[in-house]
Amino acid sequence: MQLSLLENAAPRLNAEDRVKALRSQLEYHNQRYYQLDAPEISDAEYDELLRELVMLEERYPELVTAESPTQRVGVAPAGRFHSVIHRLPMLSLENAVNDHEIRAKLDARIKKELGLADSQPVSYMCEPKMDGLAVELVYEQGMLTIALTRGDGVTGEDVTKNIRTLRGLPLRLKGEGVPTLLEVRGEVYLSLDAFQKINRDREENGDPPFANPRNAAAGSLRQLDPRITARRPLSFFCYAPGVVEGASFSSQHEFLSTVAGWGLPVNPLARLVEGVDGAVAYYNEMQGLRESLPYEIDGTVVKVDSFLLQRELGEKSRSPLWAIACKFPPRQAETLLEDILLSVGRTGVITPVAQLRPVEISGVTVSRATLHNWDELAAKDIRIGDTVVVERAGDVIPAVVRVVVDRRNGSERTVLPPIFCPECGSAVVRIADEVAVRCMGISCPPQIRESIKHFASRGAMDIEGLGEKVVEQLLSLGLIHTVADLYRLTKDDFMRFERMGDKLASNLLTALENSKTCDLGRYIYALGIRHVGERTAKTLAQAFGSLDNLEKATVDELTSIRDIGATVAQSIATFFTNTDNRAVLRQLHESGVHPAVVAKTVGGRMSGKNFVFTGTLTRFSRDHARKLVEDQGGNVVGSVSRKTDYVVAGDEAGSKLIKARELGIAVLGEEEFLILLNAH
Ligand code: IVH
Repeated sequence: MQLSLLENAAPRLNAEDRVKALRSQLEYHNQRYYQLDAPEISDAEYDELLRELVMLEERYPELVTAESPTQRVGVAPAGRFHSVIHRLPMLSLENAVNDHEIRAKLDARIKKELGLADSQPVSYMCEPKMDGLAVELVYEQGMLTIALTRGDGVTGEDVTKNIRTLRGLPLRLKGEGVPTLLEVRGEVYLSLDAFQKINRDREENGDPPFANPRNAAAGSLRQLDPRITARRPLSFFCYAPGVVEGASFSSQHEFLSTVAGWGLPVNPLARLVEGVDGAVAYYNEMQGLRESLPYEIDGTVVKVDSFLLQRELGEKSRSPLWAIACKFPPRQAETLLEDILLSVGRTGVITPVAQLRPVEISGVTVSRATLHNWDELAAKDIRIGDTVVVERAGDVIPAVVRVVVDRRNGSERTVLPPIFCPECGSAVVRIADEVAVRCMGISCPPQIRESIKHFASRGAMDIEGLGEKVVEQLLSLGLIHTVADLYRLTKDDFMRFERMGDKLASNLLTALENSKTCDLGRYIYALGIRHVGERTAKTLAQAFGSLDNLEKATVDELTSIRDIGATVAQSIATFFTNTDNRAVLRQLHESGVHPAVVAKTVGGRMSGKNFVFTGTLTRFSRDHARKLVEDQGGNVVGSVSRKTDYVVAGDEAGSKLIKARELGIAVLGEEEFLILLNAH
């Protein structure tokens, strides 16, 4: 074993080729995913390619380039954002709220200004008005160098590190005629899918959900830790030039198609129309499309297409004369809040739900709305009997936005969080650091119902046919009490249902039978352990390989797994120490529920060897080190014991290093660790 092994030129040359190949594959898949909306590989496969590239770049730092896809994964927190003055102020737009205003405030004014006859049509570029936040990107010599928020229009905040994590944005422009300087403005937004997923994750972690995709996008972009932004799939559409040197455009439509050619994302719904009638038709068309788009739009933007005419028209104070925002009517309505109901969820969280006098909001009748949590209820001072503004915003569940205080007559009633569970009467607790109020009853009916529904649901055991109605009947007939009882059901049991045919009963039994061999990740998720969502369950399945191993894992071992923090680890350990849970798991096992064990790498050179990492690693991340060990069949554990084979110590290693020395365990520096793994 010699240091020169690391400096050997041959592997580096191979690595260089591999790095290039990986980069072009990753860029290709980014484009398929973000720009063409036609991915060819799964997220897991993408992550695998990215991980390999990260590993190679960490081993050969001289191969890292600014435009490498690894530079999107997010770097350490910056502390705070720096203010930067925009070279050209970022203006906002005047609003029109209906077709009459589009004609009067835009078309008529322009014609007057330019001295055009009423009959002479102006060419307009029409675009969806994205409901996100405005950002300016600066490309110098084709490389993305700075990204700024709009701020107050004059000064923005430097969010470059965060913007670099957007996988749909090129870090380097491609193609012909890339200018020396290109400032482009556009909107950062979140797709509805991404928004809903972020909120599900937040609720799983006891964090309050974002009210709408715009807030979620803004919150994600303004994260001081770009590693968090990297996990939020933000997107971007370009819509206007800033300062440009080394290229020129004669119109908005030419600008959009040119930047699209350089690899920048442009909304495919943008369209050139002739005359204001075309702009009005576009506005109506987009309003019809609004509900079926995968992202939120709050209107359309109409711009004079010709840049020459734009210059001639100029701007007044804060908005240009050549463009207007045509806003859609808000998806809001006022109605009476008749009652505040208490809803008990799967994990016992009791949330306030508004019962409303039914009201129609853009074609949908709304009679319930979420009030999110008790803090929000108090902050908005929402009372029974209030007239409230209800909004449908990017989510299927409407929310109460605010109270119309002027409509109060003094008879309104405040509701406080309950002390006892409305369903089972058990005491309610409020957990520190959580906004949630939780029923601790172990036999609370809605909790049982929701957890059985969760067990059978698609992402979990995927038992087709075992939905809300069936679960409710099984419970009310006393046929099941826990998920383990599901596997003892017979055809006769199902035939006791009001509406159940022979075929349906057989299908249910087959679905139950098939679920017995589902994969381990789904099974772990199905158990409904608090803080363990689909992704965490998958990670656990991969790390432990069997439920048995997971059950035996200590909190230390759990926290040594990538993405598993102290709260999650504690919650898993608590779940498995509960005797009721253990009994259910044993019964499930006895009924033949044997989820497929994920194979661990066996027979690698480090097979059976236990590694502990301590201190700050500087050559590579812990995740990366773990992968290196696991790739060779070794294990990474959290604490030092006699079973530990190697302790890898970074800077400022503390008690674990002392313990290793006491036990006489081999201590390696980072360099030595790499040599050990590279040795043949
Ligand atoms: S053009 C000077 N185009 O709407 C013209 N803006 O109310 C600058 N927005 O701050 C804006 N989609 O954040 C333009 N296709 C689009 C847009 C758009 C969304 C936002 C943008 C701007 C605000 C103006």
